[in-house]
Amino acid sequence: MTVHKTSRLPGFYDLGVEERAGMVADWAGLDQDERAVLTSAGLEFDRADQMIENVVGIHGLPLGIAPNFLVNDRDYLVPMAIEEPSVVAAASFMAKIVRGAGGFRTCSTEPVMIAQIQVLDVPDPWAARFDLLCQKERLLDLANQTDPVVVSLHGGARDIEIRVFPDTPVGPMLVVHLLYDTRDAMGANTVNTAAEALTPLVEEITGGRVHLRILSNLADRRLARAKAAIPPESMAFGEYSGEQVVQGIVEAYAFAAVDPYRATTHNKGIMNGIDAVALACGQDWRAIEAGAHAYAVRDGHYTSLSTWTRDREGNLVGTVELPLAVGTVGGATRVHPGAQVALRILGVESARELAEVMAAVGLAQNLGALRALSTEGIQRGHMTLHARQVAIAAGATGDQVQAVAARLVRERKIRLDRALEILDVMAKKEG
Ligand code: MEV
Repeated sequence: MTVHKTSRLPGFYDLGVEERAGMVADWAGLDQDERAVLTSAGLEFDRADQMIENVVGIHGLPLGIAPNFLVNDRDYLVPMAIEEPSVVAAASFMAKIVRGAGGFRTCSTEPVMIAQIQVLDVPDPWAARFDLLCQKERLLDLANQTDPVVVSLHGGARDIEIRVFPDTPVGPMLVVHLLYDTRDAMGANTVNTAAEALTPLVEEITGGRVHLRILSNLADRRLARAKAAIPPESMAFGEYSGEQVVQGIVEAYAFAAVDPYRATTHNKGIMNGIDAVALACGQDWRAIEAGAHAYAVRDGHYTSLSTWTRDREGNLVGTVELPLAVGTVGGATRVHPGAQVALRILGVESARELAEVMAAVGLAQNLGALRALSTEGIQRGHMTLHARQVAIAAGATGDQVQAVAARLVRERKIRLDRALEILDVMAKKEG
């Protein structure tokens, strides 16, 4: 099969795993070793043993590919590692609709992380604040001595901000924020090292005692944004007109905008996509999760990370904005062969590009969930995929999986006991 450099891969879903893997490997130009990593668990036992402590095995997850992504006029095949059915399918399908409307537009800030330095026992916090700000250049110079490589790549310490908490359980507290551009690294080690290096100078300037020195996962200086504008006609499906679907999505968004109970689930849907890419690409998904939800409550009211409105032409317009502290160098991307291959497939050239594609995937995922929820409900689509898992749990293999799943759905009995009965009858017929 000839593979063109478009991420539209018609019929991809219907291929077998080996064929799909081959097609993706050709598309991404993977070499033999990388191909082998793709179809294995992505991680050897020995390597796993070097990564964390007390290793006894390797935990596997399915790695899926969401085709159809067009982001800033560039095609991407998106690797997603996730256990939940229908996430990859929804992302792919929504990406197909969005590409028909010109694709996603994205942008991001410079990759600036925040490291925090807690200072206690400061004799005069306000005077200390003044002195620290006036000696900013000294502090930045010192911070820049810790990682000459990042500095040579035009990253490094950018700014100092001081926050004073006059009244805490341990008395007045001063917090120094070191803003540091980590370029293509997630940057946790870099900024933690820089913050530690500032300790003596901060103590000298403030007369206080430095306590914690650690990055903040509320990486609100490292934001990624994505946008899609979709004409109503491309949102029509089944008995629902495009206008109905668009209105339904705008109304669903209003629910998440005002109600934290709904916003949490709405944002979880966004994170379904973002986390799956994060996991596939060896990113610190806990950091991403922590940052996303803290950002969602930045104004003191937990709300939606996305917006869905209509423009003057009546198009459905979606946007998303969140902190995405991700890296294409260092961390697990250096040691995890599966993560390296996933990044090769995605083909991103910088951490910012990775963050922007992830934001687009989050928006696609959100669109898929709102489209389903505001029309036929989430269960119908879910159930078909859930039925496959029940069939597998009952012991179905190969073609049996689809046959048993289809029967469970038809009978509206997606239960393990029924799957076992069906398999039993099949076995008797075959025997
Ligand atoms: C399920 O994993 C995600 C959804 O609940 C998201 C949402 O409700 O928007 C469907």
